[in-house]
Amino acid sequence: MDSSISELSQRLAEAKQSHLLQFWDELSPEERRELTVQLQGMDFKEINGFFRNAMEVSSSSKQEKMDARMEPVPREVLGSVTRDREHLAHWEQEGLNCISQSKVAVLLLAGGQGTRLGVSYPKGMYDVGLPSHKTLFQIQAERILKLQQLAEQKHNLKCYIPWYIMISGRTMASTKDFFSKHKYFGLDKDNVIFFQQGMLPAMDYEGKIILESKGKPSMAPDGNGGLYRALGNQGIVDDMERRGIQFIHVYCVDNILVKVADPAFVGFCVQKGADCGAKVVEKTNPTEAVGVVCKVDGLYQVVEYSEITLATAEKRSEDGRLVFNAGNVANHFFTLSFLRDIVQKYEPNLQHHVAQKKIPFVNVQGEVIQPDKPNGIKMEKFVFDIFQFAKTFVVYEVLREDEFAPLKNADRQDGKDTPTTARHALTSLHHRWVLNAGGHFIDENGRRVPAIPRDGAADSVKDDGNRNLKDGTDLPIKCEISPLVSYGGEGLEELVKGREFRPTLIIDQQGVHELVKNGV
Ligand code: UTP
Repeated sequence: MDSSISELSQRLAEAKQSHLLQFWDELSPEERRELTVQLQGMDFKEINGFFRNAMEVSSSSKQEKMDARMEPVPREVLGSVTRDREHLAHWEQEGLNCISQSKVAVLLLAGGQGTRLGVSYPKGMYDVGLPSHKTLFQIQAERILKLQQLAEQKHNLKCYIPWYIMISGRTMASTKDFFSKHKYFGLDKDNVIFFQQGMLPAMDYEGKIILESKGKPSMAPDGNGGLYRALGNQGIVDDMERRGIQFIHVYCVDNILVKVADPAFVGFCVQKGADCGAKVVEKTNPTEAVGVVCKVDGLYQVVEYSEITLATAEKRSEDGRLVFNAGNVANHFFTLSFLRDIVQKYEPNLQHHVAQKKIPFVNVQGEVIQPDKPNGIKMEKFVFDIFQFAKTFVVYEVLREDEFAPLKNADRQDGKDTPTTARHALTSLHHRWVLNAGGHFIDENGRRVPAIPRDGAADSVKDDGNRNLKDGTDLPIKCEISPLVSYGGEGLEELVKGREFRPTLIIDQQGVHELVKNGV
């Protein structure tokens, strides 16, 4: 141990990180052992290099707005579920065909810390309070199962969609335990592949690694763009190759509406011969803090709201839409050969982005301090950093209300992206599926609930009894359809057409049930 410690302290001195051992004498043998193992696994030269580059890029990008260099996504690379309706069935068929040949994998980005949601367990294990109390992981697993089944039925071929799940060191054990406890939600265990993304230390503005306790550097996952390094060093690209995967759908854990391996999106990208595709939702409010997909100096990238002027954000085209309206939702298509190129050629050159954070630290007296303003940075790569390398890039626009409702924050009054908004988004989508399939909802008095709620419906409950509201807090009609019954609204007619339902309506493999008040 002693010789390894002197070697380590030599390395630390060379990297100007000797302070990491400043409390060595106060540590227990166990703490010393853990700290040694952790520091020995760190490449300080590389970390210092990341810090220098990230700070340099961050300070140069602050000075210059992107506006003059930006162009919107041209119509010819854009597919849209509203503007290209006539092609949708065709794209979907193409996607299902690829799925039936087991050429499509899904890849879940689940390595984040979920700080804003504020729970101590991985976000995928969160229950947003649906009638079924399914977690995000379960909803996604069941969508995969259903899609496999749809592709199998259509093409009479046994197929599978491997599910690659990227997690970080902090969430690996609990996520694996959760899947194992729930028997992989009915999926074949061999087709659920966990892999671990990298971690990087938090640094102060001078480039010193921050200690979160006397014997522990403050570590955080290296961003969802840490995906590309992990794909290489965890052997995932090779695994995909072995399984004959050609197309990969990448998405985030927190979008409750995500159409996992969406056959229409996959089919669209395949038919366009794309190596890289981004699903987007229309940005309608100029000041919404969402990144937009666009071209910068001729190359595709995501430009954050903070990188452009308000005048550019507000620019509209003749049809009244915002010019830069392709809102990024971190939902992507890649070919395997594109990913292989990224891993082998381009990943090392991607720069980290800097996020200024309030990072708890120990001061020289050894006290843990919770700062009240940012005191350092975390370094992250982003999953979309690689758009610039695409040879054929396409964009696929979908409806926000059908496909995007992320869970970011804890519940609070009028909160955005909360468990309540996610739950409402899903139940209101399922409500619309029932209406589209010819079903109806009735209120307590047996009167049909209008399909389109009027503005201020919550206030009008007492006047006309049209809504199923008691207190205006749970606006949408409560309706939940198991993904095992319907992936995207299909197959419901035989269950609901011409029938009237009283919410809460549940449609699952056991059948169609109404949960009457006081819960049955
Ligand atoms: P967010 O940027 O919203 O982060 O991640 P988060 O961790 O979920 O939440 P906060 O910011 O700490 O509150 C978007 C997606 O990228 C994944 C997340 O798991 C989520 O699916 N992600 C993020 C990773 O896989 N790795 C990371 O290092 C960061």
